[in-house]
Amino acid sequence: MSDLPFTFMLNMPGVIPSRIDNHIQRKLSALKGQFNDQQAFDKMLAEEDRLIYEVYEIKRPEVEGEMLMGVSIVHPGKVGREYFMTKGHFHSVLNTAEVYYCVRGEGYMVMETPDGETAVEALVAGKILYVPPCWAHRSVCTSRQDDLVTFFVYPANAGHDYGTIEQVGFRKMVLDSENGPEIVDNPRAK
Ligand code: F6R
Ligand code: ZN
Repeated sequence: MSDLPFTFMLNMPGVIPSRIDNHIQRKLSALKGQFNDQQAFDKMLAEEDRLIYEVYEIKRPEVEGEMLMGVSIVHPGKVGREYFMTKGHFHSVLNTAEVYYCVRGEGYMVMETPDGETAVEALVAGKILYVPPCWAHRSVCTSRQDDLVTFFVYPANAGHDYGTIEQVGFRKMVLDSENGPEIVDNPRAK
């Protein structure tokens, strides 16, 4: 891999980066056990294993000192009242942070620490979010029509721990309500 400086573009309106080394597509089935309304999940999955989100990665060596970058696109939709979202994870090297820049759309970043501290930050185009070390993070798209598009950067040696979140999900959930998105406690994560 070249060690020369490089550039790439996020070309609007599609926001797909001009340089892509890996394209991940996560479908509904990959989020089994994460949505609270299990019946709604099963019904939707029986109809179609819908594409929920995609990630375009720019590869670098996964070693200390390097940074990984990419674009995450969460599509609009709901399972029951719960908005489409990413799986979410801690970094395997827990003590590593991440920066997100919201390029397009509307949504939330749901976060928590291993000690049970929680934070939920609204994302709108132009907003930058700093996720400090030790905070697990999940993006949620709350727009009815638009993708939630974020650009992210994090230490290349961080790795991903999905297993902890897979057990019962995050402590907070984002649900659709009469007054718009509502942040509620996840009854399974007590
Ligand atoms: C990397 C990171 C993002 C997410 C992406 C998809 O550390 O936080 O690139 O990987 O938004 O979410 P997950 O990885 O939770 O499926
Ligand atoms: Zn991360």
